[in-house]
Amino acid sequence: MSENVNQAEKQEMVHLTINNIPIEVPKGTKIMQAAREIGIDIPHLCYHEDQRIKAHCRLCSVEVTGRRRLLAACSTEVWEGMEVHTDTPIVRDTQVAILQLMLANHHKDCLSCPRNQNCDLQRLCSRFNIMESHLPSVVKEEPRIVTNPAIVRDPSKCIRCGRCIRACKDVQGIAALTYAHRSSDITVTTAYDKPMERTDCVLCGQCSLVCPTGAIVEKDDTDAVLDALQDPKKHVIVQVAPSVRVALGDAFGMEPGEIVTGQMVTALKLLGFDKVFDTNFGADLTIMEEASEFLHRLEHGGTFPMITSCSPGWVNFLEKNFGDFTAHLSSAKSPMSMFGAIAKTYYPEKAGIPVEDIVTVSIMPCTAKKFEAARPEMGREGRQDVDIVLTTRELIKLIKYVGLTFQNLPESDFDSPLGYGTGAGAIFGASGGVMEAALRTVYEKYTGKTLERLDFQSVRGFEGIKEAEVDLGSRKAKVAIAHTLKNARILMEQVQRNESPYDFIEIMACPGGCIGGGGQPIGTTNAIRKKRMAALYEIDRNLPIRKSHENPDIITLYKEFLGEPLSEKAHELLHTHYHKVEKEYTF
Ligand code: SF4
Ligand code: SF4
Ligand code: SF4
Ligand code: FES
Repeated sequence: MSENVNQAEKQEMVHLTINNIPIEVPKGTKIMQAAREIGIDIPHLCYHEDQRIKAHCRLCSVEVTGRRRLLAACSTEVWEGMEVHTDTPIVRDTQVAILQLMLANHHKDCLSCPRNQNCDLQRLCSRFNIMESHLPSVVKEEPRIVTNPAIVRDPSKCIRCGRCIRACKDVQGIAALTYAHRSSDITVTTAYDKPMERTDCVLCGQCSLVCPTGAIVEKDDTDAVLDALQDPKKHVIVQVAPSVRVALGDAFGMEPGEIVTGQMVTALKLLGFDKVFDTNFGADLTIMEEASEFLHRLEHGGTFPMITSCSPGWVNFLEKNFGDFTAHLSSAKSPMSMFGAIAKTYYPEKAGIPVEDIVTVSIMPCTAKKFEAARPEMGREGRQDVDIVLTTRELIKLIKYVGLTFQNLPESDFDSPLGYGTGAGAIFGASGGVMEAALRTVYEKYTGKTLERLDFQSVRGFEGIKEAEVDLGSRKAKVAIAHTLKNARILMEQVQRNESPYDFIEIMACPGGCIGGGGQPIGTTNAIRKKRMAALYEIDRNLPIRKSHENPDIITLYKEFLGEPLSEKAHELLHTHYHKVEKEYTF
């Protein structure tokens, strides 16, 4: 405490005025942040609080007394005695001129645009009262690029801000997107303009999460869900991933990280789903199989480190970049895909409904889940286990479409028998959560003792790579957790050099894990991710059962249907295999 106070005392402060309002901020603060301190939002497009500064768009231009040129508020540090003006005629004219130039090169079909009413460009045009485009259009009418099940690009909506490039390169370490050409011809594209899925891209959707316009979006499957819901012959069931319930509220004006499980279930019931189930149940099932697989490898010999495989962006990354190491991946399917397999086998038997009448929908925080569901190995007899995947953003659209006032909805419970999840299932949505859930089960199964302290603090938090050593009695297990593919690469290069000290590794493609997935609400930042993480641990703490192997519905499922973990039936339904994918194009 006293150390912090001393540090604060030592911090040099700078005094300035913004629009004649005096303010004191720490040295090094940018004008943009200083203005926020006094409630002024300087318009911006290329700036993103989690990215390094680009200063491309100049929309944040401000006047500073004594300077002949306007300065970019996002990149200029304050100085002692600085006088900033954010709303002079020249500033406003400049900002309007920049927006007009953008509009001249923009396909302005807001009404049919996936980002309508959730678009930074649209919002800024409305803020500056720009009712029409004054410059002649120079936009190239290009078709939307729809070549894979997850991500759609629309170059005619791109304002060349570079946010997607930074997310792909700096967060994921991939660089599937780049600038091409120069000057007024500049575009953002992939290597040799190839479809994303044929480049290094893993369809994680982080680019779509930071794009301020409709230039990169998830593939919209909401119509397919509405069609299924309106078909009286279909029994439509839905599963919801753990991280959706702590993110959905953002879109309805609730505090980031607010837990909206009950309202979410009510909304899905009102949308017309016949049964609302929980992917947390699937997560518990994944732990049963994955923990058993880990113990089997320990006891009978197997490839180490074993690495989790429930993040499809990560699996795509490994297949494309470390294709000779697929044996390290756990063969246990992801919670979504395990749930799908059970929903198309056990559930029809139990509910007395023909499998051909069942439509399975998943609500996921992830764009790559759309790709995972479409993998040929994720189904049987010509039927996919998961028929349709919607992102959190698409669920928001559906809730708005039917006109529900989400924040006022009463709470309801998930349906049975695939609707009960433990605390271990709940924390799957946070980086470190899968490892913690697995360790709770591995410890008890390996030692035969009861785990007294369920919280493994060392695997929690937002650090890029975390590690821990767990005492299993007769031996210790060394584990590591990484989130983002940039960090995954570090751990995989160790594996490649045969220098990995770990027994078990958890990898999640997205920052913070699924709570920061590429399909989560627009506006997701690292600060918000941390609040969602805390909310998942709160859910876990408050649940009466916090270990997957104690989930009564999972116990019944094994008794009635699967037999034992790793049984022949469990292998047939709940396990899969991965394979090397040759990359065609790379930068
Ligand atoms: S990207 Fe924004 S401004 Fe452009 S058409 Fe879509 S909603 Fe309108
Ligand atoms: S989906 Fe992910 S990997 Fe692909 S371009 Fe976007 S950020 Fe990069
Ligand atoms: S695709 Fe989106 S994020 Fe990327 S440069 Fe264009 S507008 Fe910016
Ligand atoms: S937001 Fe400052 S230059 Fe783009």
